[in-house]
Amino acid sequence: MVSTRLFGPLSILSSTLLILTTINPIAVAADATTTTTTTTKPTKLVNDVCNRTSNYTFCVSTLYMDPRTPTTDDYGLAFITFGMTYLNATGTQDIIAKFLKTTKESQKLQLLETCRRDYDKAVSALEMAYGDLNSETFFELADLAGNASAAAKDCQNAFKDARDRPLTARNRGLKDLCEICVVVSKLFTGGF
Ligand SMILES: *[C@@H]1O[C@H](CO)[C@@H](O)[C@H](O)[C@H]1NC(C)=O
Ligand SMILES: *[C@@H]1O[C@H](CO)[C@@H](O)[C@H](O)[C@H]1NC(C)=O
Ligand SMILES: *[C@@H]1O[C@H](CO)[C@@H](O)[C@H](O)[C@H]1NC(C)=O
Ligand SMILES: *[C@@H]1O[C@H](CO)[C@@H](O)[C@H](O)[C@H]1NC(C)=O
Repeated sequence: MVSTRLFGPLSILSSTLLILTTINPIAVAADATTTTTTTTKPTKLVNDVCNRTSNYTFCVSTLYMDPRTPTTDDYGLAFITFGMTYLNATGTQDIIAKFLKTTKESQKLQLLETCRRDYDKAVSALEMAYGDLNSETFFELADLAGNASAAAKDCQNAFKDARDRPLTARNRGLKDLCEICVVVSKLFTGGF
């Protein structure tokens, strides 16, 4: 089952992050310092991947947020990248759910409903990608990352005439992460 494989590693990842952030702020600060230093010298793999994205700096610093990145291979980097992207999308799902509870204005509610559906699609696509990775099936990874990115774009589009666009940063975040996922996918399918 995809979901068992998926939520095992991911929930370990999220609780590790939570523990690090809540219990040990000093370690996190030290990590952050190390990260800044390390990002000036990314591994060849990270350099090659990030050099194919539109924002090299963003790509390197994002990948180095995961402590496994400096020692990982292609396959590990795919788990790191898709895992992060999945967590980013589910984080936004939670925010949308909160907004839906607190918003009264009916027009804004409609737009948020659109985004809720978009993010449901994005999360399913990323879950499918994670399942594919577990079974070493690579051919549709790039399309699935593209589907998640398209969902972020659709959500952003829904708000284009609205006064207030509460999900702009989140949508951009998912789109940027998906771009890294697409490049990483090509490590396995050629075209790299
Ligand atoms: C990035 O890619 C370009 C061509 O796509 C290449 O000329 C350049 O050397 C690469 N830079 C690094 C740091 O790998
Ligand atoms: C690239 O990413 C960095 C770090 O996230 C950000 O500060 C910068 O504005 C981005 N550049 C572009 C052109 O988006
Ligand atoms: C996902 O992307 C592929 C290729 O771009 C496309 O054919 C497919 O319709 C998309 N699926 C969904 C659910 O959007
Ligand atoms: C997702 O990405 C956005 C933009 O980079 C960032 O602000 C946000 O903190 C990320 N969320 C999660 C849950 O990782």
